[in-house]
Amino acid sequence: MRSKAIKLLAFRREIQDRLALTEDENAENTSLVLAAHALKKTKTWILAHGDYELQDKEINTLQNYMTKYLQGVPLPYILGSWAFFNRTFKVTPDVLIPRPETELLVEKAIAFGQEKDSLTIVDVGTGSGIIAISLAASLNHASVYALDISNAALAVAKENAKNHQQSRIMFVQSDLLSPFRGRFDLICANLPYIPSQKMEKLPVARWEPRLALDGGASGLESIEKLLFQAKSRLAPGACILLEIESSLGTQALEIAHLTFPGAKHHLIQDLAGHDRVLQILLS
Ligand SMILES: C[S@@+](CC[C@H](N)C(=O)[O-])C[C@H]1O[C@@H](n2cnc3c(N)ncnc32)[C@H](O)[C@@H]1O
Repeated sequence: MRSKAIKLLAFRREIQDRLALTEDENAENTSLVLAAHALKKTKTWILAHGDYELQDKEINTLQNYMTKYLQGVPLPYILGSWAFFNRTFKVTPDVLIPRPETELLVEKAIAFGQEKDSLTIVDVGTGSGIIAISLAASLNHASVYALDISNAALAVAKENAKNHQQSRIMFVQSDLLSPFRGRFDLICANLPYIPSQKMEKLPVARWEPRLALDGGASGLESIEKLLFQAKSRLAPGACILLEIESSLGTQALEIAHLTFPGAKHHLIQDLAGHDRVLQILLS
């Protein structure tokens, strides 16, 4: 039995002090997010109930979260979910953590899809399913395929599709487009694009699946292979949208020119002004 009740605000301050020692710039927000998750309340509730007396179970949960956080486990893996394009998606260490930059690709894909009466879309390397699910939810007239080489990632994506009532997405385990013979109107992909030699120096490489990050020696190996496969799998007027590593824009554009000489190619910049999406538009 506890001799003295621990109040929520006091405990959050303790967490913040420990985080501040690690020079965590988001200590206040992190303590808020962890507390909201541990207590299954909103952040507003946590802010408004500093006097709430924590139960032993809640203290244990929060201490467990803190231990993981201080070990460096990314917040989304501790919480088991993360927000993307106004929805919350389940995430596990089998999938890449959704990045805000990927919303740019989704916005461009929706804009393309809205101009068509019907279309077939494929999300190559779906991971947690964020691209396929966001597109299926916004484009009711589209047939959507989502593929990944990783069965573990596909299991997470399927669960996310179920949670967001997107039952019409067809999930397929495959190495890029190898088993597909059909013609797609829109190919979207956020494939691994970090050059192998950069991987070792990146903190993310410690936690996120290598399969989701390592783009081979050039960083463009999967993208190049996908573009080559796509040549025989596109409908007239089709579009390809690929997320790229910002420093590889010029090389990615060159590959696009070589593979689709008659098409229009653009690099689209993210909010920070970095090259982020390669768009290829067939005539
Ligand atoms: C960078 S993650 C992107 C995940 C998700 N689309 C997103 O944007 O968060 C790349 C994904 O591609 C998958 N992948 C890697 N190589 C692949 C291949 N040859 N064929 C199919 N999927 C592949 C990985 O398993 C991983 O889920």
